[in-house]
Amino acid sequence: MSAHLPLTLSVNGEEVSRLVEPRETLADFLRRDLSLTGTHTGCEMGVCGACLVMLDGLPTHACLVFAVQAQGASVETVEGLTQSAAIADLQRAFHERNALQCGFCTPGMLVTAQGLLSRKALPSREEIRDALSGNYCRCTGYEAIVDAIEMVARRRAAGETATSFVEEPA
Ligand code: FES
Ligand code: FES
Repeated sequence: MSAHLPLTLSVNGEEVSRLVEPRETLADFLRRDLSLTGTHTGCEMGVCGACLVMLDGLPTHACLVFAVQAQGASVETVEGLTQSAAIADLQRAFHERNALQCGFCTPGMLVTAQGLLSRKALPSREEIRDALSGNYCRCTGYEAIVDAIEMVARRRAAGETATSFVEEPA
C-alpha cells in the first residue's frame, strides 16, 4: 500500500485538505473523495472530454492530472460553475436547443464552452466546433450544441445574463 500525500487546494471556492494516494487522478479525487460526480470519467486518457474542469481558470482534463499536481490550485467543477450561475445561460441554452440527450458529455461541453467564451466573446461556428473537437458526444450530432453556444455568445454580447438555468415561475 502506497503512502498518502497531503493535498490542499480550492474546490469551488472552498479550501479542501485531504490525504491522497500519489497516483490518484484529480477526476477520481473530485468524484470519490468529494462526491463531485458531475465530473464524468469516460476514456480516462484525455480523449473524450467528459472530465473537464477549470483548473486555475483553464479547461483541463481532470483524468490527466494527478490530484497532488493540483496542490495550491483553484478548481471549479460543473457543480461550482452551476452554484455561482456562471454557466446558467449556457445550461438554459442547452435546454432550449435540446443540446443533450443522455447528458454524459454535457458537463465537459459546458466547461469547454465557458472556457471558449471567456477567451473569445463571439466565436464563429467553426471556432466553436474547433473548441469542441476534444469533447465526444455519441448522441446529439453536435449541431444543437454549437447552436446553443452561439446563442449564448450573442446573448452575452448583448448584455443578457441568466441567474438560473430554468425559467423563474411567473
Ligand atoms: S475521461 Fe478524461 S478525457 Fe475522457
Ligand atoms: S448527450 Fe449523450 S454523449 Fe452527448
